[in-house]
Amino acid sequence: MPDIEITDDGAIRTIRMNRPDKKNALTLAMYRLMAAAIQEVNRMPDICCLLVTGGTAFCAGNDINDFIDAAKSGALAEPVTSFLDALVLNEKPIVAAVAGPAVGIGVTMLLHCDHVIAARDAVLSTPFVALGLLPEAASTLIAPRLMGHARAFELLVMGRPLDADAARDAGLVNNVVEPDQLDAAALHAAREIAALPGEAVKAARRLMRGPVSELSVRVDEEVALFKERLGSDEAKAAFAAFLNRKR
Ligand code: COA
Repeated sequence: MPDIEITDDGAIRTIRMNRPDKKNALTLAMYRLMAAAIQEVNRMPDICCLLVTGGTAFCAGNDINDFIDAAKSGALAEPVTSFLDALVLNEKPIVAAVAGPAVGIGVTMLLHCDHVIAARDAVLSTPFVALGLLPEAASTLIAPRLMGHARAFELLVMGRPLDADAARDAGLVNNVVEPDQLDAAALHAAREIAALPGEAVKAARRLMRGPVSELSVRVDEEVALFKERLGSDEAKAAFAAFLNRKR
């Protein structure tokens, strides 16, 4: 079974993160496949909505082993930046179905989604700063706009987790459902969106998100600082602590 499964069904493309033994921590191969799947959809007139899901554990963020490799090479790998660019440039609506842990990029990617359903057991956290890093995916721009500076600071800088209800109160999640209802609720929303006139959806979405250039500039600023932070002693110590925590 591949770590990313792509399924097209009618007007909906589902991207399923499928690395359950590692809670869907994202490897470079997974980023590459997800970036390609999103880019491709923008050239597919018949696909009107994307659905991103991760089974019972949405996504544990970037694979920490890859962070260690990136720290050695001094650069964020190209598949990661391609994925961030794909999110920023994407023109099709995205529905996300979030269960269990959503960490790091598992949360910041939701800021590029248009409709998020969370299972009651979802916990969203962004421990970037605790890892000696900083938030990415234009989250430093989008999150304060969405939930206000104070709540965005609590999430993105202080790293305090949000449970499903708190994420809904913060405006990050639309609906909270029981875990066994998650797939059906997300599919229902995706079908509802896909049934709308596609060009009108795209135009409204584009205007609501604001200029793409603004998002791109912020992603680039974050990536430049992220690269610096990856090589820091703070980050190296935090990565080692995570990988050694069970020994
Ligand atoms: N990178 C690499 N491996 C990861 C990972 C990550 N980001 N997240 C989880 N894993 C691995 C664990 O090492 C473990 O592997 P093992 O079974 O070989 O020991 C496996 O996935 C399951 O994780 P575990 O911690 O045992 O599950 P849990 O249910 O107790 O906790 C999380 C789940 C997601 C809360 C926890 O794994 C976690 O905090 N992960 C790190 C998240 C993170 O900091 N990501 C970077 C954000 S910028």
